[in-house]
Amino acid sequence: MSFPKIGIVVSTTRPARIGPRVAEWVSQLAPYDAHAEIVDLAEVNLPFLEDLEHPAAGQYDRPSTIAWSERVRGYDALVLTVAEYNGGYPAVLKNAIDTLKQEWEGLPVGVVGYGWGGAAAATGALATVLDRLQTVRLDGPGLRFGEDLSPEGEILPDAPEDAVRGLYDQLLAAVREGQPAA
Ligand SMILES: Cc1cc2nc3c(=O)[nH]c(=O)nc-3n(C[C@H](O)[C@H](O)[C@H](O)COP(=O)(O)O)c2cc1C
Repeated sequence: MSFPKIGIVVSTTRPARIGPRVAEWVSQLAPYDAHAEIVDLAEVNLPFLEDLEHPAAGQYDRPSTIAWSERVRGYDALVLTVAEYNGGYPAVLKNAIDTLKQEWEGLPVGVVGYGWGGAAAATGALATVLDRLQTVRLDGPGLRFGEDLSPEGEILPDAPEDAVRGLYDQLLAAVREGQPAA
């Protein structure tokens, strides 16, 4: 049996971003029986909804959307690392979500925020969207600047490793639950 594949999503794209450092830290905490892989939305590089059909139709004509759909379908679960931008979550993440539709239904999706208040406003807003799309949403920790990480992206000793490990446990349980009985 192959190990579940979990995509760790970098939700920001700005040149000076720390998102990759947060995602790398999350990915390094993955258990031995899961395969974690970074999904960088800067590399995914989606346009804003250029397909002719509505995403709900699942009939994509843009090669970037077809590739994004196949990539998401290739994961058993995702962890979204989520920055807070002006009390919300990054627009590039919303666009990546809105570009697809059926792919999200039933997918276990963990959330790890980072911001001055642990990105509580961002992850709260994101929860509404993930629930609307009927993902299996699992809330992880929110990392706080000055306590868990520096504004430059250095992970500090108090960073909640156990909470991330617990999130992986929940994700793997959700993956097992969603699989057809052998
Ligand atoms: C446009 C913008 C808006 C921001 N708004 C917030 C905010 O509302 N709350 C917060 O805690 N941090 C805010 N910040 C600080 C970010 O949490 C911090 O810069 C973080 O590193 C952003 O993630 P990134 O480096 O991966 O882009 C904001 C940063 C940017 C660039």
